[in-house]
Amino acid sequence: MILEIKGIDTYYGLGHILHGLWLSVAEGEVVALLGRNGAGKTTTLRSVTGLTPPKRGEILYKGRNVAGLDPHVISQSGIALVPETRDIFSYLTVKENLSIGRRKGSRWQMDTVLERFPSLKERLNNKGRELSGGEQEMLAIARALMTGPDLLLLDEPSQGLAPLVVTAVMDTIRELKHQHVSMLLVEQNAEMALQLADRVYVIDHGTVVFEGTPTQLRADQKVTATYLGVGG
Ligand SMILES: Nc1ncnc2c1ncn2[C@@H]1O[C@H](COP(=O)(O)OP(=O)(O)O)[C@@H](O)[C@H]1O
Ligand SMILES: [Mg+2]
Repeated sequence: MILEIKGIDTYYGLGHILHGLWLSVAEGEVVALLGRNGAGKTTTLRSVTGLTPPKRGEILYKGRNVAGLDPHVISQSGIALVPETRDIFSYLTVKENLSIGRRKGSRWQMDTVLERFPSLKERLNNKGRELSGGEQEMLAIARALMTGPDLLLLDEPSQGLAPLVVTAVMDTIRELKHQHVSMLLVEQNAEMALQLADRVYVIDHGTVVFEGTPTQLRADQKVTATYLGVGG
């Protein structure tokens, strides 16, 4: 396992959000994390990256407990987050945004990253704010890759994107899987996630309510209707 979350409890102040949450991601695996709005998906990613460290439990990355380490140290160890808000620098160019992600010794250099994202290559000197939503998402993923991560955490990459652009983002995720990047994919768009994922977790109120394959989840009408708002 590249990532093993073992029974974490995470709080915002007095608000107890994650309750003994557990999940794992194997090397090279794409794991989807689903659940309705407010279930604790983003908080799970924030716990892993150290932005909101858990109060209890362990987060093993390559076998080492990283729970509570400085976010900077966690990112240096090879975990990259593509946040829901994308966090592109609007007044910097595409090239400058990418340079910010650069890390010594990364197996992804500017040119190798740009090979994966031809549309960004054409817009290297455009400012972040001049990009479409889809291009901003691509830039956020490309910037995360510049750090040379072994584990990529994606927070709702399809959010606000037109269907055609969602397809492009999905293709990118598939390509990254071929490059042996392990991924934890948070999505509201269950259909997209189920097409990409090897395994799926559904969480609600900060605990796991389902673990299985996409096929098993599709067959579980109770879980899909209750927690994903599909079928009935
Ligand atoms: N910064 C914060 N301070 C206090 N409560 C928060 C904060 N961020 C999120 N929450 C609460 O934590 C819960 C889980 O939120 P979140 O992890 O963002 O859910 P999801 O990503 O699944 O939609 C929600 O009830 C939300 O209101
Ligand atoms: Mg969220």
